Amino acid sequence: MKRPQSIRPHRGKLAVLLPGLGAVATTFVAGAMLARRGLAKPVGSLAELGTIRLGRRTEGRVPKIRDFVPLAPLDDLVFGGWDIFQENALEVARQARVLEERHLEPIAAELAAVRPMKAAFSPEYVTRLHGTHLKSGSKAELVEQLREDIRNFIRDNGADRAVAVWCGSTEVFIEPGPVHQSVAAFERGLREGDPKIAPSQLYAWACLKERVPFVNGSPNLTVDFPAMSELAREMSVPIAGKDFKTGQTLMKTVLAPMLKARLLGVEGWFSTNILGNRDGEVLDDKDSFKTKEASKLGVLEQILEPEKYPDLYGNIFHKVRIEYYPPRGDAKEGWDNLDIFGWLGYPMQLKLNFLCRDSILAAPLVLDLALFTDLAARSGFRGMQEWLSFYFKSPMSAPNVYPENDLFIQLMKFKNTLRWLQGEELITHLGHEYYD
Ligand SMILES: NC(=O)c1ccc[n+]([C@@H]2O[C@H](COP(=O)([O-])OP(=O)(O)OC[C@H]3O[C@@H](n4cnc5c(N)ncnc54)[C@H](O)[C@@H]3O)[C@@H](O)[C@H]2O)c1
Repeated sequence: MKRPQSIRPHRGKLAVLLPGLGAVATTFVAGAMLARRGLAKPVGSLAELGTIRLGRRTEGRVPKIRDFVPLAPLDDLVFGGWDIFQENALEVARQARVLEERHLEPIAAELAAVRPMKAAFSPEYVTRLHGTHLKSGSKAELVEQLREDIRNFIRDNGADRAVAVWCGSTEVFIEPGPVHQSVAAFERGLREGDPKIAPSQLYAWACLKERVPFVNGSPNLTVDFPAMSELAREMSVPIAGKDFKTGQTLMKTVLAPMLKARLLGVEGWFSTNILGNRDGEVLDDKDSFKTKEASKLGVLEQILEPEKYPDLYGNIFHKVRIEYYPPRGDAKEGWDNLDIFGWLGYPMQLKLNFLCRDSILAAPLVLDLALFTDLAARSGFRGMQEWLSFYFKSPMSAPNVYPENDLFIQLMKFKNTLRWLQGEELITHLGHEYYD
């Protein structure tokens, strides 16, 4: 890939479209509204608070990322979305009970104005939810209706362009089939109503057709198959996914590289979670959980490489559980028990208890992904954006390479991509120049 000669400057408004206006989406929208009024800090966002070192350590050049690459400012974002329930973003945020009234009250009118458009949905894909705010029509017609929504939203809000971040529910587990192998097969599947085309795929297809970059924040099979990559390249649009890396997997992708770096062995890794939000309710269904489980299980194998270190990681028992426990709401609690071993095989244990907040951890990721994917589009990047793997539990990668899951390698890849984009020297951390 050639370095772009120039980045199309940001101008006008950027529409951030959110299929699934639930806890994560409304926490993100409310936070962006508060931050731009100076009423709260966008903690956790690299786009807003991150810095980037340029050149040698002696040069002292460490601008804010926002001053280094031309991101759309918070003031220029307009928010829209779709949901199977018709409540506006203020009502949803109140029901989700993530944000306190002191944070909702100052932006109540602005938040209430974010009203979901009717959803493309089929109950076989999310069996626990029974919404009524739905479009009707064949799969091909639903795509056309979504495309019309996108065009209308951009026009009605005077936006220059849009990006979409899927914040909808986790759908049941599906594997790519023949319908997912090419644009032609997928288009045929849309016309024939192929049951393997999930609702989230309809949104992604509609967005790409409208040249709107699409990010998948859930573990669904949505943009990670050949037909979507082909369409993204054809339309010159970026795609990214999947599954926001926020809680337990974030911890895993920090701890596992540490154990591997020190060559400490792992015998077992048991992870369990309790959460009581709507996401937890959806994941209580075994087929939706299977989608999440697949996304969560993959990371250890890739980081620890048991085939290269059979003595250390060849026999790991890895288990992940999610328990729906309504009293906790969005305040998820994760426990990890690691049975590890060291010198001469002596056993040890490591326990981690993360009392976190699901949507508070996810919201800054939605913001960053919207802004960086928009930057990618204006830089002429198209197809899958591996440099954004930092944000995902199951990052997409080219078919011939394994995905990179180590958080710090992902961060280096992310920052080096920004340096490369702006014609700055890449940082290798070799450092011998200071001693010559
Ligand atoms: N830390 C996190 O919160 C986190 C981390 C990783 C991934 N995720 C994923 O993000 C997604 C959103 O999480 P949440 O806590 O906001 O869940 P939520 O249940 O509060 O919100 C999801 C919303 O999507 C809507 N929806 C479902 N199918 C739809 C469709 N076809 N069209 C439009 N709307 C649809 C639901 O009605 C619901 O309002 C989930 O898939 C979750 O697994 C969340």
